[in-house]
Amino acid sequence: MYNEKVVDHFTNPRNVGELTDADAIGETGSFKCGDTMKIFLKVKDNRIEDIKFLTFGCGAAIASSSMMTEMVKGKTLDEAMEISNKDVSDRLGGLPPLKLHCSNLAADALHDAINNYRKSHEAV
Ligand code: FES
Repeated sequence: MYNEKVVDHFTNPRNVGELTDADAIGETGSFKCGDTMKIFLKVKDNRIEDIKFLTFGCGAAIASSSMMTEMVKGKTLDEAMEISNKDVSDRLGGLPPLKLHCSNLAADALHDAINNYRKSHEAV
């Protein structure tokens, strides 16, 4: 079963939704289940000013994304790039082994969004 923290983030997800004026969007999918995750970023002075997510994923994916958005808000892009899938599941107090692949969606989609931001804003 999921622990209390996972259930809290699953039933009360933080930062769920879409940013219509996002500076960058990241997306990833799971080979295992076919679910997808989309991340919207607002960036100011190289820091994540706002972040939201939308997903077709399960409860573990929702909890992971919710936790990840709380972990990265206000961080620099470099700091956010260092956050791993394991950091997210650790912060949630762990996930059942069968659900670990779901937590991978959150940080992977975040990294994709940051890479997309860099491609469009740092290109010469
Ligand atoms: S089963 Fe697809 S994200 Fe969890």
